[in-house]
Amino acid sequence: MSTMMVPILAAAGGGPAAAAGNTLVVWFSRSGNTRVIGGQIARSLQADRFEIQPAVPYPDDYFENVALAEREREAGTRPPLRASVQNIASYERLYLGFPIWGMTAPAVIRTFLSTHDVSGKTIIPFVTHGGYGLGNSLKVVAEHARGARLLDGFNLERPQERQTIEQVNAWLDTAR
Ligand SMILES: Cc1cc2nc3c(=O)[nH]c(=O)nc-3n(C[C@H](O)[C@H](O)[C@H](O)COP(=O)(O)O)c2cc1C
Repeated sequence: MSTMMVPILAAAGGGPAAAAGNTLVVWFSRSGNTRVIGGQIARSLQADRFEIQPAVPYPDDYFENVALAEREREAGTRPPLRASVQNIASYERLYLGFPIWGMTAPAVIRTFLSTHDVSGKTIIPFVTHGGYGLGNSLKVVAEHARGARLLDGFNLERPQERQTIEQVNAWLDTAR
């Protein structure tokens, strides 16, 4: 469910929010909701971007992924990432995006924050969820973002993958 992603340098250019050379937009996304927001932030601010991906991809099947996320949450797993931000020191502001998984931040967010030095940086979270709110995700970010300043961010309810699967399954049941 993923494509290779490496840090991309922002295009130079003008615009009202152009002075974002020290801003990095980082996100993890399974089904694209958080990715859309991250892309929009990066384009609007003309900021660099980086998509967090696990070294071992998550299951394609939604419900297998839900079960795995639950196990990772219970075990406090920090799954290795496919790639890291090599030049993290050059950024002062990080927009950090993720979906809520099992009422918290996905395990790869713990990995990202504990394997990158974010001390002294400002972190602005953007979070999507399926209707059950942010859970303890911001507390988890605060605990793992050592020395960073955490600002209020943005969140959005987007249950589209589960709803889509349920509607497709209902249709398939009638079509069999
Ligand atoms: C593994 C998994 C666990 C989820 N757990 C929750 C949850 O605990 N609470 C919630 O409101 N939504 C939950 N969702 C729904 C997602 O948070 C929501 O659809 C989000 O927008 C998906 O973002 P993405 O498209 O960037 O992956 C879960 C989705 C997945 C795949």
